[in-house]
Amino acid sequence: MRIGMLTSGGDCQSLNASMRGVAKTLFHNIKNVEIIGFHEGYKGLMYGNYHTMLPSDFSGILTEGGTIIGTSRQPFKLMRTPDENGMDKVEAMKNTYKKLGLDCLVILGGNGTHKTANLLSEEGLNIVTLPKTIDNDIWGTDITFGFQSAVNIATSAIDCIHTTAASHGRVFIVEVMGHKVGWLTLHAGVAGGADIILLPEIPYDTDEVIKAIEKRTEEGKKFSILAVAEGAISKEDAALSKKELKKKRANSPYPSISYELGAAIEKKTGNEVRVTIPGHTQRGGSPCPYDRVLSTRFGAAAAGLIMKKEFGYMVGMNHGEIVKVPLSEVAGKLKTVDPDSSFINEIKSLGISFGV
Ligand code: F6P
Repeated sequence: MRIGMLTSGGDCQSLNASMRGVAKTLFHNIKNVEIIGFHEGYKGLMYGNYHTMLPSDFSGILTEGGTIIGTSRQPFKLMRTPDENGMDKVEAMKNTYKKLGLDCLVILGGNGTHKTANLLSEEGLNIVTLPKTIDNDIWGTDITFGFQSAVNIATSAIDCIHTTAASHGRVFIVEVMGHKVGWLTLHAGVAGGADIILLPEIPYDTDEVIKAIEKRTEEGKKFSILAVAEGAISKEDAALSKKELKKKRANSPYPSISYELGAAIEKKTGNEVRVTIPGHTQRGGSPCPYDRVLSTRFGAAAAGLIMKKEFGYMVGMNHGEIVKVPLSEVAGKLKTVDPDSSFINEIKSLGISFGV
């Protein structure tokens, strides 16, 4: 068997652990298996940049962050647009697959990656995918690998802010990654004991945020901590059209939503506000034990599908059990936080504000 493998999109901590899970299972169960690693995601498949990966390549990488074969962002919306030399990207990927005589291509990636994976599957390639992202926003799986490691890092950022916020009696905003969804902020915010949590799925009212801070001050609390998703949005902005919002953001003097909100809080309350952005540290370093286990299970399950010749699926997790989800169902959907979920209501019942 000849299997191709690639990692695409933003990296995360558990990509290597996942590839190791796939490879170890294949090498352990099949006599003749060759794994071809494509460099820097779909780019490697398009331009024929790859190398044969030996069993030894997968040793010692369980704890290593990043990806040993590199990654890149190749937007799905440009897949049908020829490259600068007029090359048809989809045809080029199909040609590399065929030229190498691959039996299957294993793709590790997030939402955009899954759209392209589904496209390649529809074009007749044998595809199996694994759900990667710190954002945890892939439809069809309860959890993605990378998410829990990022939660740990974002939580530890909020933990560190707690002590300095308490010493200085300041308002602190910790801006958490997550793109357009709030899973990472919700989990890190709750785990870090944030007082106010702002998510893209629950547009906030700046006055309500300020009220929540003032209420804490009245209760004698000297500091407040806000966990703000990078994609958080005010009610006002949520009412704008896409075009109007783009224009507003382009003309904004603030580098991100946290700075804009921080300035409004400072102006209205007179409180000193500081903004902390852990940024890409949330995607870096070693995967946490939870992710190592998850990736190992996902990897073994993906290899299982390959050995059974079941293609066109993503492996996922459903209530603790590994499942296979058709790529056609995954592609183009987003798993967002439900504002009416019991999770949100439980957190609200503690008095934690979502700015509404
Ligand atoms: O999708 C993962 C993620 O880290 C998001 O949380 C974030 O918005 C984005 O990628 C950042 O992308 P880049 O590394 O390309 O700046």
